Amino acid sequence: MTVNGISIGILGGTGDQGKGLARRFALAGHPVLIGSRNAGRAQEAADSIGSGARGAENAVVATEADLVIVAVPYDGHKALLESLRTELAGKIVVDCVNPLGFDKQGAFALPVEEGSAAQQAAAVLPDSRVVAAFHHVSAVVLMDPAVDKVDLDVLVLGDDREATDTVQALASVIPGVRGIYGGRLRNAFQVEALTANLISINRRYKAHAGVRVTDV
Ligand SMILES: NC(=O)c1ccc[n+]([C@@H]2O[C@H](COP(=O)([O-])OP(=O)(O)OC[C@H]3O[C@@H](n4cnc5c(N)ncnc54)[C@H](OP(=O)(O)O)[C@@H]3O)[C@@H](O)[C@H]2O)c1
Repeated sequence: MTVNGISIGILGGTGDQGKGLARRFALAGHPVLIGSRNAGRAQEAADSIGSGARGAENAVVATEADLVIVAVPYDGHKALLESLRTELAGKIVVDCVNPLGFDKQGAFALPVEEGSAAQQAAAVLPDSRVVAAFHHVSAVVLMDPAVDKVDLDVLVLGDDREATDTVQALASVIPGVRGIYGGRLRNAFQVEALTANLISINRRYKAHAGVRVTDV
C-alpha cells in the first residue's frame, strides 16, 4: 500500500495533537491542511509548522483533503462531525479522540453511548470510512525537533480493510512508527481507554510512554 502524495486534513489541527501529527506528515512530504473553527487560527498554526502546510476552516479542509484526521476534544467531537457529514462523505476519516475524564486520581475512561469515540464517528458519518488510530502518540514527542524516531506502534482499527491498510501505511511514514492492525471498530473502546493508563505511567515515570506489539 502506498500513500505517496495523499493530502491530509486535520480537524482541530490548531491543538497540540493536530499540530504534532501535521508536522510529522508535512516532514514526510504530504500536503497538509490544518483545520480550525477560525481560518486565521488555522493559518497561524500552519505557518508555525512550515513545510508547505496550509490552514483553513474545518469545512474547507474536510472538502479539500484526501484523508481527514479528527483531533478535537471529545466534548466537541459529535457536533463537529455531524456538521461535516456531507463534506466527509466517501473519505477515510481517522479518529484519534480519547474520551477521558480527569479527577484527583488522574485520568479515567468516560463511557460513550455508541461504544467509543470512533464508533460515535461512524454512527454520525454513515457515508465515510471511519478508522481509529493515533490514540497513544504523545503530541510532545511529535513536536520535539530532537526526536528523529518516534518509538511506538500505532494501533489501527476499522471495518474497511483498504482503509485500515491506508492508515497503517500513513502511520509508518513517521520514522520509527509501525501501523499495526488492531481489530474492528467495535474494539476501539479499550484502545481509547488505554490512554488513561498511559497517562498514569507518564505521571509516575515522567515519561511519554507508547505501546509496542511483539512478534509482529
Ligand atoms: N494531546 C495529545 O498528546 C493527544 C494524544 C493522542 C490523542 N489525543 C486526542 O486528540 C484530540 C485533540 O487533543 P489536543 O490535546 O490537541 O486538544 P485541544 O488542544 O484541546 O483541542 C484541539 C483543537 O480542537 C478545537 N476545538 C476545541 N473545542 C472544540 C469544539 N467544541 N468543537 C470543535 N473544535 C474544537 C480547537 O481548535 P479551534 O479553536 O482552532 O477550532 C483546538 O485547538 C483529543 O480528542 C485527544 O483525546 C491527544
